[in-house]
Amino acid sequence: MNTPLVSALMKYISNQPIPFHMPGHKGGRLFPSFPSYLQMDLTELPGLDNLQAPEGPILEAQTLAARAFRSDACFFLVNGSTSGIHVMMMSAFRPGDKVIIPRNCHKAVWGGMILSGVHPIYVQPEYDEDKCLPTHVSPEALERVIDENPNAAGMVLTNPDYYGLCPRLSEIRNILDRYNMKMLVDEAHGAHLIFHPDLPPSAGQCGADLWVQSAHKTLPALTQSAYLHVGTQERGSGTALSARTAQVHRLMQSTSPSYLLMASLDWARAYMETRGREDLSLLLEHLFWTRKELGKLGIDTMENYSRPELFGIDKTRLVLDVSMHGYTGFEAEEALRKAGLQVEMSDFNRLLLICSVADRKEDFLKLTEACRNLFQNKGNAGKMSRKLTISREIPRQMLSPKEAFEKEKEFIPLKEAGGRICGEPIGTYPPGIPRFLPGELIDAHGLNELLENQAWGAHLFGVHAGNLVSIIK
Ligand SMILES: Cc1ncc(COP(=O)(O)O)c(C=O)c1O
Repeated sequence: MNTPLVSALMKYISNQPIPFHMPGHKGGRLFPSFPSYLQMDLTELPGLDNLQAPEGPILEAQTLAARAFRSDACFFLVNGSTSGIHVMMMSAFRPGDKVIIPRNCHKAVWGGMILSGVHPIYVQPEYDEDKCLPTHVSPEALERVIDENPNAAGMVLTNPDYYGLCPRLSEIRNILDRYNMKMLVDEAHGAHLIFHPDLPPSAGQCGADLWVQSAHKTLPALTQSAYLHVGTQERGSGTALSARTAQVHRLMQSTSPSYLLMASLDWARAYMETRGREDLSLLLEHLFWTRKELGKLGIDTMENYSRPELFGIDKTRLVLDVSMHGYTGFEAEEALRKAGLQVEMSDFNRLLLICSVADRKEDFLKLTEACRNLFQNKGNAGKMSRKLTISREIPRQMLSPKEAFEKEKEFIPLKEAGGRICGEPIGTYPPGIPRFLPGELIDAHGLNELLENQAWGAHLFGVHAGNLVSIIK
């Protein structure tokens, strides 16, 4: 039989590297040995309830999850936070509503803009030029945007981001409250936060109206499983928002949701309620030790990274800046892979490792050992000594994301794109903030910035083979 994907998976797990990436269950380490997982792959049979109209065990499991994550209502998602972001934007907003959106949000938010038909009011996150790292929107920057757009319906935020950086959610909530605006939070990377007092607060603890969490990223849950929550704050719109969310949730989920995924959401919640605090304490201890050891090698583990716009850092996220060793993050990732460890992601300067309650002490021992071997030899220092130009301008918006989505596109060379309307996000990676978003006018200044960065060897996203970009016809 020709089964290329099955074969690729079999090959991968036959010499599986130590997983410092999602899913958070890390090869199923914390799952109980049920008789057969495949037998549990069932459908809406008697006694098994129905996600589209839950009234039995699914309702009970969602209610327990709402209690654990301190929300009014929880909806199980079987297509990741991506679908949850779509549901929450379609629930909270109506076509044409103005919504404040940081330009470094996840692409699921772009999808949410198309589906909900909102009109984005873009705001730049702060940017750490030395580290080439976008952070978050500061409360002061938000005040300025709201001054110009006091009739916006709400804002979408990320907490924490991929790098574990958390915005000042409570302050932002207070500002939004003054204008009766909704706060929607993409907490895809923060499902574990509520289970340990030494971690930054979860969106639910900061008064979010709606928030989503990818259980599969940081909890022992299967890939694609995620929670969507409706807030506990009494905000007048509470019940109406819950009813609308239930309606949109039904619209956007499969009528045959996987019972394995839903069961793993139930299991992850129960596990974290029972063991989460203790296991997270142990994980934080392992990470404290690991950071100390890596610090001795001269690796910046960013644990004390702070900036005014940040509330704090999720210390379960291990970010290693290897640039002072003369390696790019990409090279270090490759070297660690050869040493039997797989990280989640790398960028030019850094490695990013996702850690969870399923990690073991010996994994961290192997990691420090591999880093010791790697960094005893210096790489080719100073490869990217020149700083890229990353301006903070926001281009003129000619069409809404939905209007831009509906238009026909063509591909043309980047250098000829001046004066045309962007059809697909284009930007420099890192830092990964789009310079132009769909519907925006490609002006000469921004275009030159991209071409200059490219000439210096930076990677541009949204630029296809032959240096072609998608443009509205
Ligand atoms: C910040 C952020 N939001 C949302 C998502 C989408 O989550 P999911 O993969 O569960 O659909 C991701 C995925 O990586 C993410 O990094």
